[in-house]
Amino acid sequence: MKNILVISYSQSGQLAGIVAALARPLETGGIGVHHEVLRSDPAFPFPWPFFTFFDAFPESVCLDPRPNKPLAIPTDVRFDLVILAWTVWYLSPSQPITAFLQSAEGKRLLAGKPVVSLVACRNMWFSAFDTLKTLVAEAGGRLVDHVALIDESPALVTFITTPRWMLTGRRNRFLGLPPAGITAQQTAGTARFGEALAEALARDAEKTGQPMLSGLCAVKVTPHLAMSERIAHRAFRVWSKLVRLCGCAGQWRRIPALILFIIYLIVIILTVVPINFVLQRLAAPLLARRAAAIIRHYEQPSGADATRMIHE
Ligand SMILES: Cc1cc2nc3c(=O)[nH]c(=O)nc-3n(C[C@H](O)[C@H](O)[C@H](O)COP(=O)(O)O)c2cc1C
Repeated sequence: MKNILVISYSQSGQLAGIVAALARPLETGGIGVHHEVLRSDPAFPFPWPFFTFFDAFPESVCLDPRPNKPLAIPTDVRFDLVILAWTVWYLSPSQPITAFLQSAEGKRLLAGKPVVSLVACRNMWFSAFDTLKTLVAEAGGRLVDHVALIDESPALVTFITTPRWMLTGRRNRFLGLPPAGITAQQTAGTARFGEALAEALARDAEKTGQPMLSGLCAVKVTPHLAMSERIAHRAFRVWSKLVRLCGCAGQWRRIPALILFIIYLIVIILTVVPINFVLQRLAAPLLARRAAAIIRHYEQPSGADATRMIHE
């Protein structure tokens, strides 16, 4: 019997629901699935108090996360595959996932293992995925597949609906805007990845190092978002270091620096983001080669094509 280890961290339950939908075909297909839910120590709150939400920014970006509580993974089970289900915090993997990948136990569990990455976030996963790939490689894992689920509402809409959800816990339709997050249909659709993994494991495909989830629309790369993210991520690195110079996580001393960062974010979202959006569209012919390179880079390893979904 094959065994899969599923590592996840979900605050609202969104990612937990996606993981359950993906894992069901594996569980019913006779594969042993061990679910390990990460728990930060102390726990991050949800919904987030306003300053706590922004106070998580510097350590998320600097990859200096809050530690996790000890894991409860049976030591006598040999896992054939690890599924890492994660979310994005400030263009970086969320702190619990970073802490797991940096921990001695995470490294022990990933060493030499094929790893499937599953991210569910607002829509900016590109920089975080580059970071995750590095962390997985440093932990000794071999990333073989990557699935990305995003909120498909327009980016500017999600700049309102996602923070509202994070800060109030409410993700329902409001002011005529669509509900925040991944839809029930997207969530249910992730069963196709579980089915493909069950079929692949049955023929030992996890041992080949080749992707098992190609042809299933695993990702959709939006090059203009990825380009904007690269600029934002560089700025985030500078801001996170500045805030950390003022104090440690949770200290009042860094609130003035966080307020400056929040003002900066609002100004950027209201000005630079729309201007950049228009400029990138106007310059699209000039940026075509760069956009194609970005698409090639982020479509690896599982791809965006739907060739195996034709008959569905
Ligand atoms: C502190 C924080 C920062 C976030 N930053 C980003 C981000 O940079 N990009 C993004 O696409 N989503 C971002 N999100 C949204 C999360 O990736 C995720 O979609 C949301 O937290 C719901 O996941 P859950 O299953 O943990 O509830 C952020 C969420 C939090 C709490």
